[in-house]
Amino acid sequence: MAKPVFEGVTVIDHPLVQHKLTIMRDKRTPTAEFRQLLREIATLLCYEVTRDLEMTTTPIETPLAEMRAPTLAGKKLVFASVLRAGNGLLEGMLDLVPAARVAHIGLYRDPKTLVAVEYYFKAPEDLADRLTIVVDPMLATANSAVAAVDRLKERGAKDIRFVCLLAVPEGIERFRGAHPDVPIYTASIDEKLNEKGYIVPGLGDAGDRMYGTK
Ligand code: URA
Repeated sequence: MAKPVFEGVTVIDHPLVQHKLTIMRDKRTPTAEFRQLLREIATLLCYEVTRDLEMTTTPIETPLAEMRAPTLAGKKLVFASVLRAGNGLLEGMLDLVPAARVAHIGLYRDPKTLVAVEYYFKAPEDLADRLTIVVDPMLATANSAVAAVDRLKERGAKDIRFVCLLAVPEGIERFRGAHPDVPIYTASIDEKLNEKGYIVPGLGDAGDRMYGTK
C-alpha cells in the first residue's frame, strides 16, 4: 500500500538510513549498538536537514592555486535536544556541525495523561538569529515536540526545523496543526500509536533502548 504523503514532511529513505533503522527496530539489538546506530543515522539526517543552507565563497590558496571556495553563510545553527532521547540524535548532529550551539529541553510524558511536563530548559540567548533544529527520535503523540517548539518560540526562535527517526500520522497532524511553519524530517512514517502512546511497529522506548534502562 502506498504510504501517505504529508505536507511539510520529508522522509529520508536513503538506503543506509533504512538499513540502520531496521537493526535499531530489532528488539535483539543491544544498547551499545543501538546508541551507535542512532548516532550514525543522525549524521545522515543532519546531512538532509542542512541541505539547503545558504552558501557564500571565500578566497583561499590551495598548494597549487588561488580560488574562491564555498563556505557556509547565513544563520548559525542551534540543535535543541528534547531530553533524554534527543541526546542520541544530538551526538551525530554535533559530529557533523561541531560549532553549533545546543539547547536542552527536559520534558517527560505523564504516563497517565501523556501530557508533556517540563523540568528543564536551557538555550542560547540569541535564538532569534539562529536556525534551530529540534531533535527528538520519536514523534508519537507530538505532545513533547509541540511543547518544545512552543518554548523555543517563546524564547525567540523563528526559523525552526524538527528532526526525528520515526513519526506516525497522528503525531504529524498534531504537530503540523500546532506549528505549520516547522518542517519535519523523519526516517520513517510508521503505522499508528498504540493505547499507551507507543509507535507501532516502532522500536520501543528510545530512551530505554539507548541507555539500557527499564
Ligand atoms: N517514545 C518512545 O520512546 N517510543 C515510542 O514508541 C513513543 C514515544
